[in-house]
Amino acid sequence: MSRVRIGGDDRVFVLTGAGISAESGLPTFRADDGLWAGNRIEDVCTPEAWERNPGLVWQFYSGRRMDGQKAEPNAAHFALAELEAQIGDRFFLCTQNVDDLHERAGSVRLVHMHGELGKAHCENDCGRPPIEDHAIYGSLAEVGRCACGGRYRPHIVFFGEMPLEMDRIRDEIDRATLMLVVGTSGSVYPAANFVHWAKMNGARRVYVGPEEPLNAAAFTSVVEGKAGEVLPGLFAVE
Ligand code: APR
Repeated sequence: MSRVRIGGDDRVFVLTGAGISAESGLPTFRADDGLWAGNRIEDVCTPEAWERNPGLVWQFYSGRRMDGQKAEPNAAHFALAELEAQIGDRFFLCTQNVDDLHERAGSVRLVHMHGELGKAHCENDCGRPPIEDHAIYGSLAEVGRCACGGRYRPHIVFFGEMPLEMDRIRDEIDRATLMLVVGTSGSVYPAANFVHWAKMNGARRVYVGPEEPLNAAAFTSVVEGKAGEVLPGLFAVE
């Protein structure tokens, strides 16, 4: 495996997906035994699901919280935190994951474009910021309400909703000279388009994962392997 050279002028944009947390024991979404095999997206991860049955939505995300609280960061999360420690503000991490394993490994310059498991926000989008919420809810009656009266819902971007921090993400992609994408199937937009934006900008584009993503053709190289095995030895920082 050839190493990815990071020169003094390089700016690195990293996109991660569920695959980077797989070796921490968290299931991915689209594997045969993944989250979307056992749960219907339209029952737990759409605005309509929330309207119809908020108790079922909270039951699903309470389960995710339970799993997330038991998991520990793996070698891949630590390798990215170490790269950030080496290159500082020339590093930016965008994760599609809602777990907090990147933060717990030490990553600082990161955004969660699909939300965060450990937070909740008002169902009315009344303008108040999300709150910290790590509760495992046994029933809907336990879920609190915002000052405006709206019920708190998981701070998760449901299918059909706009991902978070898109302006900042676009700016960071435009500044990057290297895009590293780890453990995502390339099937959910707009994240699956980031590699195309980087390509238009002339940046190098490297994918790491055990199988090719759907958008593999847009990468300059695909390194096949598990993130926890590949990332720790991947970077040659000059
Ligand atoms: N290391 C790296 N990649 C891995 C590993 C591993 N150890 N194990 C699995 N993978 C890869 C799989 O090959 C697959 O390409 O992780 C990818 C997981 O793909 P998905 O399950 O589709 O997850 P992701 O791409 O993160 O999903 C995107 O879809 O449902 C939504 O909002 C949810 O953020 C999520 C989005």
